[in-house]
Amino acid sequence: MDTQEHFQEVFFRKSSPFLTILPYPLLEAGGKSRYNEELCISEMEALDSGFSESWRKRWKKGGFAMVELGVNIDHVATVREARKTTEPDPVWAAAMAELGGADGITVHLREDRRHIQDRDVKLLRQTIQARLNLEMACDSGVLAVACGIRPDQATLVPEKRQELTTEGGLDVLGQKTRVKEVLDALREAGVRVSLFLDPDLAQIEAAGELGADAVEIHTGKYALRQGAAREAELEVIRRAAERIVEGNMALHAGHGLTYHNVRPIATIPGMRELNIGHSIIARALFVGLTEAVREMKARIQA
Ligand code: PXP
Repeated sequence: MDTQEHFQEVFFRKSSPFLTILPYPLLEAGGKSRYNEELCISEMEALDSGFSESWRKRWKKGGFAMVELGVNIDHVATVREARKTTEPDPVWAAAMAELGGADGITVHLREDRRHIQDRDVKLLRQTIQARLNLEMACDSGVLAVACGIRPDQATLVPEKRQELTTEGGLDVLGQKTRVKEVLDALREAGVRVSLFLDPDLAQIEAAGELGADAVEIHTGKYALRQGAAREAELEVIRRAAERIVEGNMALHAGHGLTYHNVRPIATIPGMRELNIGHSIIARALFVGLTEAVREMKARIQA
């Protein structure tokens, strides 16, 4: 197998997603980011030595970066809980989403268990092939569940009882000690930790100091605004994204993203993962969940 064939095999192998996220300069720097640690040396050497010039250029321009889609299926559980019955089952929904190409399944186990239940998270852990991303508050009860179930990733979010959905990012600066305790406990359990933050440079700085693996930028404001105001918020998000990548944290984004507004966010350099729920589930009512996920994947990877 020549180097290019080797690269192609490595690149497209699902078990090796790390290659898809590495900006080339990081490879040249010797793989310093936390994510790079899992890139095996022979693959790095193969890439460094025989990578053809044109492929190298495309890589440098971010042409190989694949943005992964985490499908948030909380709303499936919301419909079930409206009747306190057994259908629709989010576990079934996760399988349908995977068929459509979901790279991850995201669920929020809220303190009040208003939609996703402990049983859902346990069954998802046992059944899905995609990555399981558990959104959670810095709450001891939910932390114990998370450390027992051990999702691939936990995303720490703020939580208020009265809110309809997560409002605003986590205030890391205001509760550094608690966030650090939860982050360390999750890490100890083998769970990668992402922090859901407003595009605020001071909060991102604090996330880096705490050793977060990833930051998910809250795109809610961007989604609500139009015209010049949306452009201005996009600029704020781009600056925040740069800081996250510079800090060797994986760049994620989510909240309020739709088929219509996702492209400018998906094409931000270094974007790794988008978590999208409401828009996909809304479309799924009409076209089915597998098709809705397929269409969103096509939008973000076009
Ligand atoms: N990311 C986070 C951290 C969230 O809390 C939510 C909402 O649960 C989402 C992404 C998905 O947001 P939406 O349903 O608006 O796509």
